[in-house]
Amino acid sequence: MKNIFVTREIEESGIKKLEESGFNVTVNKSESIPSQEDIINFLKEKEYDAVVTLLTDKIDAKIYDAFPNIKLYVNFASGFDNINILEAKEKGITIANAPAVLTAEAVAEHTMALMLSLTARIVEADQFVRDGKYKGWMPNSFIGTDVLGKTLGLVGAGRIGSKVGYYSKGMGMKVVYYDLQRNEALEKECGGEFVESLEELLKRADIVSIHVPLMDSTRHLINKEKLSLMKKEAILINTSRGPVVDETALVEALKSGIIGGAGLDVFEFEPNISPELIKLQNVVLTPHIASASIEARKEMSDIVAKNIIEYFEGKEPTNKVNK
Ligand code: GLV
Repeated sequence: MKNIFVTREIEESGIKKLEESGFNVTVNKSESIPSQEDIINFLKEKEYDAVVTLLTDKIDAKIYDAFPNIKLYVNFASGFDNINILEAKEKGITIANAPAVLTAEAVAEHTMALMLSLTARIVEADQFVRDGKYKGWMPNSFIGTDVLGKTLGLVGAGRIGSKVGYYSKGMGMKVVYYDLQRNEALEKECGGEFVESLEELLKRADIVSIHVPLMDSTRHLINKEKLSLMKKEAILINTSRGPVVDETALVEALKSGIIGGAGLDVFEFEPNISPELIKLQNVVLTPHIASASIEARKEMSDIVAKNIIEYFEGKEPTNKVNK
């Protein structure tokens, strides 16, 4: 019987599938985020054959070398920047992720929610009502902006970015995108216009939404210089990974009116958030929950199980990332 360790509780659908398929699954039930040392200590408790990791787990040679028998790590997430996949490859270790279709859906919907919260000033207005300040209809209060007719700039037009493009097009926005690859479906189906450079996109967009993975080449992709190219009223949305944006530069840009606002689900130094960001009115902040729909979590859990089952049947897991 193969022993599987899951570093924290996840939606149980995949766990059940694994158990039904004869795997012995141990789940760390603690709610706190385990450190790398904690993970090493958990893995010492039994002869594990595979590990289900979370995006908060740092997985690299320190773990690979401590447990040479573990040859499979499956990340319960679409992104896998928490795992050193090159070191794994060198050591013959398989890494897979869980790029659920419904994760893309959930993240795209959350992106729209952040966008509309800012343009319609939902969070500020909600606070106003809760504070007992509403005394009757006011023609000049909480004036927001329509998204109709505005330009959405997608930084990255993969599965999530293009969904955001479709929704934005449906709301009457012009969609422009920058990516290393052309997305013909986005161009045909919603008139998405490919722009040659990130700089051009930042100059043209009223709302910039980031949908790139975190890699060396995308770390601080949006920095002080790039922020200075954006329109003064522009809104920046980030539902990808925090370090893609230089948070210190972003705080400065928001404070000094270089840009108009930001909707952030991810932060550069998660779980820490710049205290300055929390004080600002022109931001909407959520705690890395963009993919947290029940539908997405269930599919992610099932994908994790599928990859583990495939691996131990001697097949290449569908979502192996270090080919
Ligand atoms: C969430 O951030 C994911 O990568 O699935």
